[in-house]
Amino acid sequence: MFNKQYVMKINKIDNSRLNKIDPNDSPFGANISDHMLICDYENGKWGEPVIMPYGSMNYSPALMALHYGQAIFEGMKAYKDKNNEVFLFRPEKNFERFNESAKRLAMPQVPKEIFIDGLYALIDLDRDWIPTKPGISLYIRPVMFASEEMFSARISNKYTFAIMTSPAGNYYDKPLKIKIEDYYTRAVDGGVGFTKCAGNYGASFYPTFLANKEGFDQVIWTDSKNHAYFEESGTMNVMVRIGNTIFTPPTSTTILSGITRDSLINLAKYHNLDVKEERISVDNIVNAYQEGNLKEIFGCGTAVVISRYSHLGYKDTLMELPQLPDEESYAVFLKKQLVGIQTNEIDDPFGWRY
Ligand code: COI
Repeated sequence: MFNKQYVMKINKIDNSRLNKIDPNDSPFGANISDHMLICDYENGKWGEPVIMPYGSMNYSPALMALHYGQAIFEGMKAYKDKNNEVFLFRPEKNFERFNESAKRLAMPQVPKEIFIDGLYALIDLDRDWIPTKPGISLYIRPVMFASEEMFSARISNKYTFAIMTSPAGNYYDKPLKIKIEDYYTRAVDGGVGFTKCAGNYGASFYPTFLANKEGFDQVIWTDSKNHAYFEESGTMNVMVRIGNTIFTPPTSTTILSGITRDSLINLAKYHNLDVKEERISVDNIVNAYQEGNLKEIFGCGTAVVISRYSHLGYKDTLMELPQLPDEESYAVFLKKQLVGIQTNEIDDPFGWRY
C-alpha cells in the first residue's frame, strides 16, 4: 500500500484515552483521537511522515502561518457499518481539493503517498475511535500550515502537514434560523473563497457573531458586488427547493466545491429529482416565499451533512419556512440516501465508498 519513497513510522501511545471518552457521546470535534500524523516540508521536499501520540508541538509565535495566513485544511469522515467494517467517503476528492487550496495559497503539493496512505494508516490505528451510533462518525482533519519563523511577508520555506481525527457528534441539533447577509462578504471574485484556507473561516466569525446577537443561528453569504445572489451559508454550501426543483449556486472562485454538494446533486439526479446549478437571486427567493413556492432551504457539508432551515431573515422581514413532514422533504430523503451509502446500509452505485 505504501510507496517505498515514504516509510510510515508509527509510534503508538502507551495508554489510550478511550477509557475516559465515549466516541458515541462526544461533542463535535471536542476530543481528539489518540494518534496524529505529522510530516514536515523543508528545502523543497517532504520528510518522512510519522504517526505519533496526539499532543501539542513546540512552535514559536513567529510561525509564518500565524502572521500571514498560509494555512489550509480539509474535512472528511470515517464510518463504521453494523459489522464494524470501516469506510471512507470519496477521500480522493478531499486529497485533490487540499492540493487545489495549497496551490492558491502558494503552498507545496502534498503527495498522495503521504495524504492518502497516511490517512489509511491513521484511521486503521485509531479505528476504535469511530463511533458506532447511527448518524455519527469520526471527523478527519488534514491541515497544512507555514512553519518557518520569519517576519518577511513572503512565501514560507517550511510547512507542517498533519492529520488528526475526532468523534463527530451532530454539528447542529435543530433547524436553523438564517440571516441573508446584505453587508459583509465572505469571498470576492478571483479571491480564495473556493479554498479551505483558515482565513475564510476566521473572517466569517464576526458577521456570524453579529447575526447571532440578532437571534440568528447562521448567515447566508451573498455576492460581494450587490448582495443580490446566494453564495454559501455559514461553513456550508446552500440548496433551495422552489416547487419541486432544487437550486444550488454553481461553483466559482467564491464558492467551495463541496463534496457533499456534488454528492447530493448526483444523488438527486439518480433519483430523478429536478436539480439545477444556477445562481439564486434574493429577489426570487422572496417572490417564491410570497407565492408559497419556497419549500425548503438547507445547508450541506461534511461536518453537518444536511442542515434544514426554519426561518430566513432578510432586512426587516422574517420568513417562516414550511416545515415539511419528513416523507415530503427532499433534504431528509437525500440525507438518508447519502448517509446510507456512507455507512454501507445502501448499495453504492457511484463507487464513492472506500
Ligand atoms: C466541513 O464541513 O468539513 C467544514 O469545513 C466545516 C468545519 C469548518 C467545521
